[in-house]
Amino acid sequence: MRFPIYRPRRLRQNAKLRALVRETELSVSGLVMPLFVREGSRLRKPISSMPGQFQLSVDELVKEAGRAAKLGVPAVILFGIPDKKDEKASGAYASNGIVPKAVRALKKELPELIVICDVCLCEYMSHGHCGIVRKTGRNWQIDNDASLDLLAKSALAYAEAGADIVAPSDMMDGRVAAIRATLDKTGFPGTPIMSYAAKFASAYYGPFREAAESPPQFGDRRTYQMDYANADEALREVALDIEEGADIVMVKPALGYQDLIWRVKEKFRYPVACYNVSGEYAMVKAAAQNGWLDEKQVVLEMLTGFHRSGADIILTYWAQQAARWLAD
Ligand code: PBG
Ligand code: ZN
Repeated sequence: MRFPIYRPRRLRQNAKLRALVRETELSVSGLVMPLFVREGSRLRKPISSMPGQFQLSVDELVKEAGRAAKLGVPAVILFGIPDKKDEKASGAYASNGIVPKAVRALKKELPELIVICDVCLCEYMSHGHCGIVRKTGRNWQIDNDASLDLLAKSALAYAEAGADIVAPSDMMDGRVAAIRATLDKTGFPGTPIMSYAAKFASAYYGPFREAAESPPQFGDRRTYQMDYANADEALREVALDIEEGADIVMVKPALGYQDLIWRVKEKFRYPVACYNVSGEYAMVKAAAQNGWLDEKQVVLEMLTGFHRSGADIILTYWAQQAARWLAD
């Protein structure tokens, strides 16, 4: 019997040896917790398709963020659910809108916490699209360039409220440049932009649309979000956002898109984020609730996979739980 000289199992014999040669380690310092905020007080409304996630009023949001911060989660990303929606997304850029209110409360109570604001119009539009819609008869179209003004105004409203990072998720062309120019000329040249650079039109966003009450009322998002069959185009999108001034680039969804996390990291060597989206969360939760999967083991494996693929930052609804599991 001839044995190979290199026998990989030598270094797998026990936990200490395995840890000694472990190549990547998931760390809480790269996790971002998405949170949904709405008007009201003492409100903690469960999101049925995302067990364990809630729509929170500002007071409850501060408590929830405080718990996450205490566990070591460095950052939250906010999604606002306004009381009123209209055709110009007024609630997105109102200085007393739900997100600016939430930001001011968070920065007051938890000054160390990194507060990221998602910048998009869909939650604030009566039609649920991420840009301004022009209708002619039964046809509709997104007015890309008119939407840029509203997106830039929204980003500014969040920066003025104290947001540490703004994160445009709309996928309009030119939005990073528009936001960067507005922030630069209004006294916020130091506010970073994390762009949802390669964001695909995905069925995995289903539960989020219930959570944010933002499903499109007609049509779909395929004229602005990317075709999931395309990878080269994703790299062009990322290149463009970097040229326009993005500081962090995101791939979204994460599961099923790890080739892109890897390629974006390899090609650009920029901070890369990935979004472990609502559908990825819902699938695992459902299986775990049925006793079909071990949630903790599966989530740590999944998140470590994203990190190993090249993601420095992971947006995940499991941020708080993962922080707990990593501390165990
Ligand atoms: C809105 C937005 C969406 C998500 C983040 N920002 C939904 C969408 O584009 O339809 C999805 C997040 C998730 O599914 O967890 N632009
Ligand atoms: Zn949107």
